[in-house]
Amino acid sequence: MARNLVLILAFASLCIGSVLADWNILNQMRRTAVRDSLKNYCESWRMNVELNNIREFEVVPQECTDYIKKYMTSSQYKADSERAIEEVKLYLSGCCSLEGDGKDAWIFDVDDTLLSTIPYFKKHGFGGEKLNASSLEEWMKEIKAPALDHTLNLFHEIKNRGVKIFLVSSRKEYLRSYTVDNLINVGYHGWTSLELRALEDEYKKVKQYKAEVRKRLVNEGYRIWGIIGDQWSSLAGHPRPKRTFKLPNSIYYLS
Ligand SMILES: *[C@@H]1O[C@H](CO)[C@@H](O)[C@H](O)[C@H]1NC(C)=O
Repeated sequence: MARNLVLILAFASLCIGSVLADWNILNQMRRTAVRDSLKNYCESWRMNVELNNIREFEVVPQECTDYIKKYMTSSQYKADSERAIEEVKLYLSGCCSLEGDGKDAWIFDVDDTLLSTIPYFKKHGFGGEKLNASSLEEWMKEIKAPALDHTLNLFHEIKNRGVKIFLVSSRKEYLRSYTVDNLINVGYHGWTSLELRALEDEYKKVKQYKAEVRKRLVNEGYRIWGIIGDQWSSLAGHPRPKRTFKLPNSIYYLS
């Protein structure tokens, strides 16, 4: 009798054990499925930001801030940026009949094209918090933005071809000396002009302000061979350059 009881107990514990194991596996599968669908969701969100299908977002969806942080600090972000730069170089190797008359021009964005704001966003939720312009500007005044190395190299290559470089930024005019110091400290020098937003430009959309700068350049006789920027508002509108190149940025959107 005692022996039977032991057998029954042993059998029962085996059954319970396997049921528990099943639950563990199910839970694990469920967790994996949730993780994969979240990853798919965030990746497709990011991709559609880059495709300019998702516009004017004010914050990164909260469940994706970890994902965006991982991407923006990853070797994939670097590889994506480097690939864009390679395409610029390929284009430049055959595109342009540079006339050497001082009227060949190229336009760069500043933030997240020449300089990186990632150190700022590391401390401010990686796009998960609504952008606080005054806090970002305080950080800009610290002159600590690092260069994006891949663009630094391209900047000098374009300049060495005798093409004039115009930096067209949505930073405000009062940040000029900080911006110049920051650019020079990390290795940028020899640009033709740094365009910043004057008071009257602050009421315009970034897209309109940047198009007006290009219009002025074209009226002065410049041939704009290309623009490279991380925001669609840097590339859109008229007059158009011959080519535009978009760098990845899924932290914020300037319209
Ligand atoms: C924005 O940043 C400034 C400066 O750091 C701070 O004083 C202010 O409270 C912030 N505003 C919001 C809404 O968080």
